Amino acid sequence: MSSRITPAEHLEEVQNSFDNSINPRLVEVMRAAVKHLHAFTAEVGLTHKEWFAGIDFLTQTGKMCDEVRQEFILLSDTLGVSMLLEMINYSASEGATEPTVFGPFHVDGSPHRKDGGSIVDQMLPTDSPLVFSGTVCDLDGNPIAGASLDVWQVQSNGLYDVQQGASQRNLRGIFKTNADGTFTINTVQPIDYTIPDDGPVGKMLRASGRHQWRPAHIHMVVAADGFIPVTTHLFDQASKYLKSDAVFGVRDSLIVDMSNGHCKYDFVLDSTSE
Ligand code: BEZ
Ligand code: FE
Repeated sequence: MSSRITPAEHLEEVQNSFDNSINPRLVEVMRAAVKHLHAFTAEVGLTHKEWFAGIDFLTQTGKMCDEVRQEFILLSDTLGVSMLLEMINYSASEGATEPTVFGPFHVDGSPHRKDGGSIVDQMLPTDSPLVFSGTVCDLDGNPIAGASLDVWQVQSNGLYDVQQGASQRNLRGIFKTNADGTFTINTVQPIDYTIPDDGPVGKMLRASGRHQWRPAHIHMVVAADGFIPVTTHLFDQASKYLKSDAVFGVRDSLIVDMSNGHCKYDFVLDSTSE
């Protein structure tokens, strides 16, 4: 009989090395991370050359990160992990508005706008006006007064304000619903745009025959006291990228008609109480 240690015994030894931690969650996470890393390494029969290419890829990914650029989050987005995180952490019941990825372009402290106000501070000649209206209701269809909608989006140049070094905010705002749960927001038509592709994630997409496009969408976080907030988007049904979003964020229930300068959506929030 061979006296060589088997991969299974080796895994057990590595997993057991975490057991003295006083943090049980850390033990759980590290044991599982090591289990899946070992399984992955063995499943693909990883060579030394490939292992080093992977190390180099992660090194380059780290070097691309600074205060404004987070290449690791982009990697998580393009591997579908960010979307999975939303799915497993959203505790609202069936019937509540579906969540999708948060993305890197939200800014805290957006301007508060009046109902019917516009989020367009600087219009471009290529912008097409869009009126976005609807309601926020609970699961029984009762309107939620005073719910907040924190909204942000790209302009017709395919860029968010923060990507243009704009110190003034543009195309973002926080609205409150009226007593009957309704809201109206004046904005412009969002367009399909590309995620940042000048780093290792862009290289990974090209090497894999994938594109870097996101279908046109408007971002929002809809929240109200006593309700589970939802981070989501509304997607333009006319986009040709709905079936191949670079970050896997599209859900059928979030696709709307944005033609003719109007778009309507009724958000549904689940209450935080059982
Ligand atoms: C966005 O929709 O803003 C976004 C999401 C994930 C990665 C890049 C951009
Ligand atoms: Fe976006």
